[in-house]
Amino acid sequence: MLIRKRLLIGMALSLSFLIVPVVFAGGWAVVVVDDLPVTAKTGEPLTIGFTVLQHGRTPASGLTPTITFTLPKEEQFTVNAEGTDKAGHYSAIVAFPREGEWNWSINAYSFPQAMPVISVAAGAATATVQPVEAKAFPSPSLLRVAAFAIGLVGLILLFRTKNRIAMAFTTVCLMVGFATFIPGVTVPKAEAQNDLPVKAADESFISQVELGRRLFIAKGCITCHVNSKAATSGYVTIDMGAPNLSTFSASPKTLFLRLKNPTSVKSDTQMPDLKLSEAEIEALIAFINSN
Ligand code: HEC
Repeated sequence: MLIRKRLLIGMALSLSFLIVPVVFAGGWAVVVVDDLPVTAKTGEPLTIGFTVLQHGRTPASGLTPTITFTLPKEEQFTVNAEGTDKAGHYSAIVAFPREGEWNWSINAYSFPQAMPVISVAAGAATATVQPVEAKAFPSPSLLRVAAFAIGLVGLILLFRTKNRIAMAFTTVCLMVGFATFIPGVTVPKAEAQNDLPVKAADESFISQVELGRRLFIAKGCITCHVNSKAATSGYVTIDMGAPNLSTFSASPKTLFLRLKNPTSVKSDTQMPDLKLSEAEIEALIAFINSN
């Protein structure tokens, strides 16, 4: 009898341990990244700033957040974030050891908040095949002028001295000069650029909708709102009564107001003012209204 009772208590206890992580003992926070880094370069330190809002509203200072970066199946490293002058705001500097699609998460309060991937390309310091900048080449017209000028000098020399070297010089330069005028023959302007991996390019390579999707995660929307378009797994969404936005859409005007100044739409709203920039709001609207 006694043994049974103990067994039941034991079972209840272990069950409660299972439940605790889901409820987070009543404490949870939204992590809002300042400027979402989409790309980075090895050897170029990247500063990541973020605000921790307890229950989505109260800035939480005095924490010791860590950021963990993972290259799938390869390696992982963690950096510590330091508090800044602003309440609930932290910042960390990260230097990526190698190229790749780095996953990362910020662990500030109760649970790590997964973030959208950062594409890291080779920076100047570690580049093995750093393509030469297009500007480093003289432009085609400059080449033509130079070729003609040298050719002309050669011609004069040729005339005066009947020198063989001058003859060769002239022929080569005039040929190069002429060749650039023939359609289809172009001076190799910046061939190397074609070999650049797309990932090394700037943020304009991701669409407005994709940027909005990433912001939905990095600005902490996903902590309160379920949205199957943003991600279906890997993120923690608190059941705090915020509507599921998977199929939600609204006029850009309403959405703009809602995100710029939530209380202007509903005075007692639980939706926090996340201090989004207009560009961020535009991307979020494009994402929310996409199908
Ligand atoms: C702390 C939790 C929380 C966070 C973080 C949050 N929201 Fe909300 N949001 C809510 C709640 C709660 C509502 C429900 C209505 C209300 O209280 O005003 C809401 C309402 C909305 C609505 C209106 C839905 C409707 O049915 O009219 C949109 C759109 C929205 N949120 C988008 C976002 C976006 C985009 C972000 C991130 C930039 C975000 N929310 C971040 C809690 C949150």
